[in-house]
Amino acid sequence: MIGNIIAYIRFIHTSTDVMLSGKHGEPLWAKIGLVLLVFFLVGYLGVAIAGKPDYLMAGILFFGAVFVSLALVLMYYLVDSLKDRSMEITETLIGVIEARDSNLNGHSRNVQELSMCLYRHLPASLKDKISPVSFEYAALLHDVGKLGVPESILNKPGKLNPEEWNVMKQHPKIAMDLLKSLPLFDEIRDWILYHHERIDGKGYYGLPGKDIPIQARIIAICDTYSAITMRRSYKDMKTHEEAKNIIKEIAGSQLDADLVAIFLTIPKEELQACKPQTIDFAN
Ligand SMILES: [Fe+2]
Repeated sequence: MIGNIIAYIRFIHTSTDVMLSGKHGEPLWAKIGLVLLVFFLVGYLGVAIAGKPDYLMAGILFFGAVFVSLALVLMYYLVDSLKDRSMEITETLIGVIEARDSNLNGHSRNVQELSMCLYRHLPASLKDKISPVSFEYAALLHDVGKLGVPESILNKPGKLNPEEWNVMKQHPKIAMDLLKSLPLFDEIRDWILYHHERIDGKGYYGLPGKDIPIQARIIAICDTYSAITMRRSYKDMKTHEEAKNIIKEIAGSQLDADLVAIFLTIPKEELQACKPQTIDFAN
């Protein structure tokens, strides 16, 4: 039972993500479950150590605690499995959306994997600020707004003209509008909206430095690395070393210098393991 209680407490600790709470905070039932569990346990201990123990009452409270902890742990595994399935469905949907764009094919999955890789390398003080499940959805969905950008612009072989750029720059806002109808994603919308912000305040919405959510700053680094190392219709791909040099150059102006410093400590093999198998990326 101790193991169940630990698993349940871990569940409550990790339940503040898009799949369970959104802007509504931790689900009420999680707290009710914990209160019930504590009630049964305290009741059992109280009766068990009393001068004249009531064995029937102690038994009822003990098995009540066992039942509640088993029910909660079962719920934990069901929710965990639901989260896995939901992520798989979202990945498939993104794959279908990206398949229409030769410049984007595999990019979102790559940014998702790179972002989670960088997340794992963050110090505990920064990790604590990020809910990994919500963050993974944001990284995967960061370019979902390109669904609203015409294919003629997405697949244009050359550079975009100013007018086309203005349309392309709408994609974070389009993503916001797409996700607006899903309260589940309330928490992550800003991280997606601001993934093209720059530390010097010269990004799409002019948000400077630490005003940009840390999740968006991480996605921006991984988005940049992925775009540089990926072949696109208007440019050839660059190597890992070339990408590192470019990222170093724009750290502090475009990208968050502290996060870039952490990104650059990640071994090349780890970053390359984030590439989707089917896509043509540089070494
Ligand atoms: Fe983007």
